[in-house]
Amino acid sequence: MRERLSEIRAGIALGPLTQIPDGTARNYVLKIGDAYFHGFIVRQGEDVFGYVDACPHAGLPLAQELDSYLTSGGDLIMCSWHGALFKINDGVCIGGPCAGAKLTPWHVIVRDGELYTA
Ligand code: FES
Repeated sequence: MRERLSEIRAGIALGPLTQIPDGTARNYVLKIGDAYFHGFIVRQGEDVFGYVDACPHAGLPLAQELDSYLTSGGDLIMCSWHGALFKINDGVCIGGPCAGAKLTPWHVIVRDGELYTA
């Protein structure tokens, strides 16, 4: 099995912010040597919120369908396995089997319209 990283160095270019339509989320997989980092970014206007793609309940990647990280209303992050709900701005679980737990933040920034790890 390939090693799965839970953190990654700053300064890696991730592409333009416009690749994440406002109000949606996008999956990112970065290959570092023989290991992989799996994360996702939620965009709300010019604000971005990144998290490691691992649910605190059972450690699974949240989305079973590509980029499906949000509830239908787009106001919460939802784990597709057992329905845990997380606040977008801080990753705190507010409902489901891991209530009170937190997604691991993945620090990302936007500079001149481009996304970078931070
Ligand atoms: S693995 Fe996410 S709610 Fe169970």
